[in-house]
Formats: sequence, structure tokens, C-alpha cells
Amino acid sequence: MSTSATRRVCVIGASGKLGRYMVRHALDRGWEVVGVCRERSVPKLADLADRMTIVPGPTNDPEVIRKAAAGCDAVLTVLVPWGVQRYSSGTAQAVLDHAEPGARLVFSCGWHISRDGGDRYPWKFRMMVRVITPLARLARVVDVNDQVEACRRVFASDRRWTVVRGSDLEEGDSQGLPVWSRHVGDPVLASNLTRRVDFALFMVEALDDESLVREAPAIVGRLTPSALSHSAAGTGTEVSAHETEQPGEAS
Ligand SMILES: NC(=O)c1ccc[n+]([C@@H]2O[C@H](COP(=O)([O-])OP(=O)(O)OC[C@H]3O[C@@H](n4cnc5c(N)ncnc54)[C@H](OP(=O)(O)O)[C@@H]3O)[C@@H](O)[C@H]2O)c1
Repeated sequence: MSTSATRRVCVIGASGKLGRYMVRHALDRGWEVVGVCRERSVPKLADLADRMTIVPGPTNDPEVIRKAAAGCDAVLTVLVPWGVQRYSSGTAQAVLDHAEPGARLVFSCGWHISRDGGDRYPWKFRMMVRVITPLARLARVVDVNDQVEACRRVFASDRRWTVVRGSDLEEGDSQGLPVWSRHVGDPVLASNLTRRVDFALFMVEALDDESLVREAPAIVGRLTPSALSHSAAGTGTEVSAHETEQPGEAS
């Protein structure tokens, strides 16, 4: 395994908004980057193409993933809720099956994924998931349940995984590393907003954070009101960049 200075990382879903941010964070660190995206999306990486290797193909194709992840210390995967072809679960399975032994695996999803059932969702959030899930599936655009299945497979794996659960997202300049908690419903997460660039930053930084191995952190922007008031109440003037909840304190 190489050191973080010489790391080779694979970004799966590299052409999307989150994927592109992850590619940039990795390149900024001087790492070698292999990106996977659908053939038709390769042009979306044109500005970065001379600084990375691009493997075109469906991310749920085991052969595509095997080729792209070969020799990589880490795999950063965007779990896509789009489509109804079991794209997300197929992608997760291909990564679990074909990443190098011992590789660090980090996956993205939303707050709606619950690892242990200990999350307490705001009623508006529950309502939205309840209404959108069947409608979107009916319209054949989004299959939220397939992302649930993808994460179930990751949680059951003995790989060195982290599943990062994103709040609502917005564009904008970085505010720094988001704060996190094990459970949605923790007051620190109440603002429910993270800059996409910082979601990507959290995923990339997670590669070097052993405390996040086999964790499913729910994140929120570090400069959001809820993160700041947690900081003021609990840890003095500075926002705690990482854990807001110690093992055993989970609600
Ligand atoms: N959007 C939010 O508010 C939000 C909130 C919380 C968590 N998240 C999580 O954040 C991650 C990124 O989400 P995002 O909304 O920011 O989108 P994004 O980064 O733009 O990623 C969308 C991805 O979906 C792929 N895609 C689009 N249509 C597809 C299709 N029909 N079949 C297969 N792949 C398709 C895109 O690939 P191409 O480039 O090839 O099109 C791209 O890799 C996801 O894991 C999501 O669950 C999002």
C-alpha cells in the first residue's frame, strides 16, 4: 500500500458534480487519479483529461471496475440513485468484489440511508422520501430503494468502507471539512445543508481517517447555524471538524 503522498485513487462516477470535485481534491493532493464514467459523459471531463486516466463504461460493469480499480489504494464511489436498472447496487457490488484487497472504500449517499435505524428524521424529510420514492420509481427516473440496497451490501461487507451520508447540497466556495454525527436527528445536523465541494472534501479526507472505517457519518456544513451553535455550546469557539458524537452516546 502506498503512502498518502503517492496514492493512486479511483473515482467512480467521476463526471458528475460530486465526482468532479473529488477528482480535483485528489489531483490537488498530487495523487494519481483514475476516473470511471459513462462513455457519453467522457467529454464532461475534458478539462481534466490530461491529468487523469479515464476508464469509460457503466459503473455497474464488473469488468470496467476491475480494470479501473487495479492498483488503486482507494476507491471513491458516487452511489447514483438514477435509473431503475439496479445501477447503484450493481456499482457497489462491483467495487466490493473488485477493489484491491485492503483498499480504502468510500461511498456517497443521502441522509435517507440508515445504518442502524437510530436516525430521527424531520417530518418534512420523511414525507418527501415517502412521496418521492414511489413516484420516481413509477416515472423510472430514480430508484431510492436501490441505493438502500447498495448501502446494505456495503454495511454487510468486511471491507474497509465508509458510507458518507450527505444532507441537502448547494454549490458555493468551500467552508472547510463538514462536521458529522452518527445519527440524523442530532441537533448539530439540523441545518441540513452542505456545500457539494465540501461533501467531496469529506470523502477524500476520510481516506486518511481510520476512525471513519466502517462508519456511516451524516454530514453538515461546518459553517451552518446548527454546526456553529453546537460548536459554541460544546467545544468552545472552534467547530469540531470531525466527530460530534462519541461511541455509546448515540441517541
Ligand atoms: N443532490 C442532492 O441534493 C443530494 C443530497 C444528499 C446526498 N446526495 C448524494 O450525493 C451524490 C451525488 O449526487 P448529486 O445529486 O450531487 O449528483 P452528481 O454529483 O451530479 O452525480 C450524478 C451521477 O449520476 C450519474 N447519472 C446520471 N444519470 C444517470 C443514469 N441515467 N444512469 C446512470 N448514471 C447516471 C452521473 O453520471 P454522468 O456524469 O455519466 O451523467 C453522475 O455520476 C449521490 O450519492 C447522492 O445520493 C445528493
